[in-house]
Amino acid sequence: MMTLQTPVKPVLSDPMLPTLYRVLRVRRDTADTFSIDIAPADGGNCLSFAPGQFNMVYIFGVGEIPISISSDPAESGPLVHTTRAVGTVTQAMAELRAGDVVGVRGPFGTAWPVEAARKKDVVLVAGGIGLAPLRPAMYRILAERDSYGKVVLLYGARTPSDMLYRKQLEQWRAHFDLDIFVTVDRASGSWRGNIGFVTKLIPRAPFDPRSTVAMVCGPEGMMRYSAQELEKRGVRAENIYLSMERNMKCAIRVCGHCQFGPMFVCRDGPVFRYPAIRALMDKQEV
Ligand SMILES: Cc1cc2nc3c(=O)[nH]c(=O)nc-3n(C[C@H](O)[C@H](O)[C@H](O)COP(=O)(O)OP(=O)(O)OC[C@H]3O[C@@H](n4cnc5c(N)ncnc54)[C@H](O)[C@@H]3O)c2cc1C
Ligand code: FES
Repeated sequence: MMTLQTPVKPVLSDPMLPTLYRVLRVRRDTADTFSIDIAPADGGNCLSFAPGQFNMVYIFGVGEIPISISSDPAESGPLVHTTRAVGTVTQAMAELRAGDVVGVRGPFGTAWPVEAARKKDVVLVAGGIGLAPLRPAMYRILAERDSYGKVVLLYGARTPSDMLYRKQLEQWRAHFDLDIFVTVDRASGSWRGNIGFVTKLIPRAPFDPRSTVAMVCGPEGMMRYSAQELEKRGVRAENIYLSMERNMKCAIRVCGHCQFGPMFVCRDGPVFRYPAIRALMDKQEV
């Protein structure tokens, strides 16, 4: 049986050659974020992946970018990629329709420590689109809920209408053994929930820091402050994991685009233990 925190290696004869995937469905999550379901164009099986890994998604004639896989690794398909439209390639992705074909290389990168977290409390801290790479970890943890202690999700969005996976959050809230706290940076009107950065939720979240594994994904500043707050609560630095973003071209440690100090985010990350990257965080060119 595959241990889910072991990264899956791509089975490609040429790691730079994309496999053709067909778009099955496009869903708009928020004003600037959408999820696409894809499956191999030749009707074959979707690639296997571990929670936290990413694919290089190629939009023909436009370009190729890294996007995390946000579906359940235990499902045979389709693969889901949740993307925020920020620039050339992601805007072109937003215009895809069912039936279109994209190229996919992957999966690449390291994975969340879902197996190693067994018997411990788990805290997932997500900022914005950072909830997407954490969703596969949540699926696996919930599938074997009894193997974990407390499971806490702390999620921060910019505004209530920027919240991802609203329906799913409601379903997860219905689990009596799952603690979900949502906060927004700015709110008006009918919002009755928390307001403020997600880091503010950490001091009062219900987990035992001495036996907690934390998985954090979001903008780099948010991750640095989250790691600091988690440490203040008593979570050991080596039990804090962060997923880093850098521009990527090859994803196979050849081009050097994603260099991060002595490491490469495409092969040594994106999921890193906090102590390995603490000194490098928030530096654009390292
Ligand atoms: C391992 C990994 C996983 C990712 N997973 C997701 C995901 O699940 N969903 C998602 O929406 N995005 C994800 N990203 C970020 C995504 O790759 C970038 O948003 C995308 O490359 C932007 O491409 P573009 O051509 O649309 O924008 P561009 O025109 O290239 O740039 C638009 C803006 O985004 C910035 N930008 C470009 N690439 C990156 C990058 N890699 N990291 C940070 N800022 C960048 C640029 O500096 C610029 O400000 C991930 C990145 C990495 C490295
Ligand atoms: S993307 Fe080329 S070395 Fe990492």
